[in-house]
Amino acid sequence: MSACSCGCSDDELTKQLELIIDEYRGEPSGLIQVLTKAQNLIGYLPAWVQTRVAKGLGVSLQEVYGVVTFYAFFSLIPRGRHKIAVCAGTACYVKGSKTVQKTLREVLGIKAGQTTPDSRFNLEVVRCIGACGLAPAMIIDGKDVHGRLEPEQIPGILEQYA
Ligand code: FES
Repeated sequence: MSACSCGCSDDELTKQLELIIDEYRGEPSGLIQVLTKAQNLIGYLPAWVQTRVAKGLGVSLQEVYGVVTFYAFFSLIPRGRHKIAVCAGTACYVKGSKTVQKTLREVLGIKAGQTTPDSRFNLEVVRCIGACGLAPAMIIDGKDVHGRLEPEQIPGILEQYA
């Protein structure tokens, strides 16, 4: 079990999680709402959270795990403060997204699907972010599109997200 980013203790965290579960206790239909709130509280959905949610709502752990892994907005690993989604769609691939991805991995020191040790960034490879005209492109925090990327621009872009 780990403490959340606000610095509260594991006990407090568990108490807050149980309050969330209480809203839907015994109601399997509340699974997505509970998981969403739990992730907002803790930042991700580790095994101990899934176990408590399963028990509280009366669903199997497999069902909880199935939902968590089906929806992209749920995460099994701690997420960074800034989410980098680098595009590997066709237009970006043709314009060199492989090199952009490689540079991001090198600069951040992580692979796709991982979070930097300082929790600053997590890196994902996605299919088309709707900015094909700006290929190769990436989007940070779901709103900042960086396009026509050259590998040497990447460290400077990441610096903006201190
Ligand atoms: S293929 Fe990369 S933005 Fe569409």
